[in-house]
Formats: sequence, structure tokens, C-alpha cells
Amino acid sequence: MTAAPSAPFLAACRCEPVAHTPVWFMRQAGRSLPEYRALKGDRSILEVLTEPELAAEITLQPVRRYRVDAAILFSDIIVPVWATGFGVEIVAGRGPVVEHRFSGPADLSRLGRLDPETDTGYVLDTVRILARELPAEVPLIGFAGAPFTVASYLVEGGPSRDFARVKGLMHRDPATWEALVDRLAELAIDSLAAQVAAGADAVQLFDSWVGALSPRDYERFALPATRRVLEAIGALRVPTILFGVGTGELLGLMASAGPSVVGVDWRVPLDAARARVGGLAVQGNLDPGACLGPFEAVANEARDVLRRAGTEPGHVFNLGHGVLPETDPGVLGALVDLVHAEGRAGRVQ
Ligand code: CP3
Repeated sequence: MTAAPSAPFLAACRCEPVAHTPVWFMRQAGRSLPEYRALKGDRSILEVLTEPELAAEITLQPVRRYRVDAAILFSDIIVPVWATGFGVEIVAGRGPVVEHRFSGPADLSRLGRLDPETDTGYVLDTVRILARELPAEVPLIGFAGAPFTVASYLVEGGPSRDFARVKGLMHRDPATWEALVDRLAELAIDSLAAQVAAGADAVQLFDSWVGALSPRDYERFALPATRRVLEAIGALRVPTILFGVGTGELLGLMASAGPSVVGVDWRVPLDAARARVGGLAVQGNLDPGACLGPFEAVANEARDVLRRAGTEPGHVFNLGHGVLPETDPGVLGALVDLVHAEGRAGRVQ
């Protein structure tokens, strides 16, 4: 913990008053920024994130350019699994792809325990550099993939539309599924606890693809392992954010998993989302696609999000999912200024 407790992002996560509505963007570092493309060159993302000085610099780029209220560590959700030797690579334009899919109980032994310092020392070194270099009012968000979403890559072998293999495994062999998500919960806990010890001020658990599940299946197959992670990290007294896409019908259950903040995609109006999470803080939820329009159009949509966020404390402004690579960085910069000037949730006048 290195940021000031009064930093607007941390205050909003705790549903406390803020000087202005905090804003950051998922995927704020990366391909939409020319300075990222210049620094990365033709190196792969795994090469870049294993170089702490480089990964820290990439994390800082959007903080300087946009004056966002939080930095997110430059890494990837697949790193702990990759680092423990489960063969996986990140294919540009596609995402994580595994060499040999997880298909049954015999594959459980391929998922070792993570020793964060030995296996992912570069991640922790990046966190340490950032804890030193970030301004006190800009907290660092560490992150991990939630068990369901990481399991989906291992079982499907890569990105998926219908999650047929995942759902097949869950319903055919629930005991193996549970053992798998339990191991992935351990990996997430060990990785996140080490990031917090190295200086991360908050953590986000990305359950990006869990919206593929019905509420009934979410409760049975994803919630218990997710709750384990959130309880373990919440005990470290840092705010936790639980995020997924297409999770409108799951928001109440996600709130019951124990995060401080629930991430909301653009499909649910933010006032409806706030009603569903029962007093927890919310993060979101401008459509990333809306940011491809001219700024007047972006401003209209952003003002609607701010109006629906209301005046009660507990809103972190963000997009409903990651920045699209085509986004004009100038639009995001102007958006930060608009949110700071016009956000009202919990604002001390
Ligand atoms: O600025 C940030 O958000 C920090 C960095 C970050 C990356 N991945 C870097 C990255 C974060 C937070 C992630 C998390 C992540 N990775 C998620 C959850 C967030 C989400 O988008 O839902 C998921 C599902 C992954 C898996 C993954 N890794 C995907 C789907 C992709 C995209 C493939 C592509 O090229 O479009 C990756 C690769 C990846 N991870 C890139 C970046 C910047 C793009 C590759 C590059 O720029 O070289």
C-alpha cells in the first residue's frame, strides 16, 4: 500500500466522499497509444511484461497522457498459468492459446503451485518500480483472472464463442471442474497477495467471460472459487473489484461474492446496476464503441453514465470493457477532463 488513502479512486471504492469522480480505463495501456507501439516494437507481449523497466514504463504512459486516477499493472491474466509451465502463448489479435487443452482429471497435475517471487519475480519487480514512481494520488491496481475465465482458456484451448467444452466439463465431471477452479483460485490468491505485498493498492479480478453462464450455473460453478479469492484478498484490506462482460443477470450474485466494487459493462444502465449490487460501489460503464465517435457524441454518452451514477458515493468511471485499439487517445483525454469536471457521485463541494 503506497498511495494516499484519500486518493479519489480508493475513496470511491470504499463508498466514501471524493474530490472528483475517479476515472481509469481498462486496457488504457496498449495498442491505442502511439508511445506504446513505439516502445513495444515487434516484441511479443510476454517478452515485454517480463522486462520490469519496460512494463513499468508502459503502465505509466496512460497516467501521464490522460491524468487518470489509477494505474493498472501491465501484465496479463494468463501469466501465473504460463509461469508455472502450462504451455500457453498469447497470439496477437487472438489472445491466449494453449498447446494441450485441459480435458480431464489427468491434467490437474499439470497445474503446479505458484511461487510468485521465483516464478513471476518480473511482475513483482514491476509493481515495486511503480509503487516508487507513481504519484501518491494515483493508486496501482494489481490483477488476476478469475478462476472461471482462466479455466475457459485452458479447457477451450483459446478464445471461445459458446464455451461448449467448458460447459461440457462442468456438467459431465463437476468434481474435476471444481478441482480445476480451486487450483486456479489458489494461483490467483498467491499472485494477488504477492502483488499487494509488493505495493499494489487495489486489485481487480477479471471474470471477463463469465457472462456465458446462467445465474444457476454461475452460483454453482463459478461463485465459490471467486468468493475464495475475494475473501482472501479482502482480508489484506485492499479494495477488490470484480468485473465481467454480459453479466447483467449476474450482478447481484457477483456482489454476494464479496468484492468492494462490481464492474459493469455497457449493457446495463448504471442506475439499474447500482440497484442490483445492494450498496456496493460500481465501476463503469461507457460503451468502448461509443468512444469511436466524435467527442460531442462521446460526451453525451458519458454524461448519461454520470447522471445514472447519481450523487451517492461509490462510482469509479470506466468503460464497460477495454479500450478498442482504434480509439483516438485525444478523445480519452477529453473524457477524463469531463468526468473530473462533471461527476457528482459522492462529491464534496
Ligand atoms: O492496460 C491494461 O489493461 C493492462 C494490461 C492488460 C493486458 N491484459 C495486456 C494485454 C490486462 C489488464 C489484461 C487482462 C486480460 N488479458 C483479460 C481481461 C480483460 C479483458 O479484456 O476482458 C483477458 C481476457 C486477457 C487475455 C488476452 N490477452 C486477450 C483476450 C488478449 C487480446 C488479444 C489481441 O491481440 O487482441 C491478450 C493480449 C494482450 N494483453 C494485449 C495487451 C495489451 C494485446 C497484445 C499487444 O498489444 O501486443
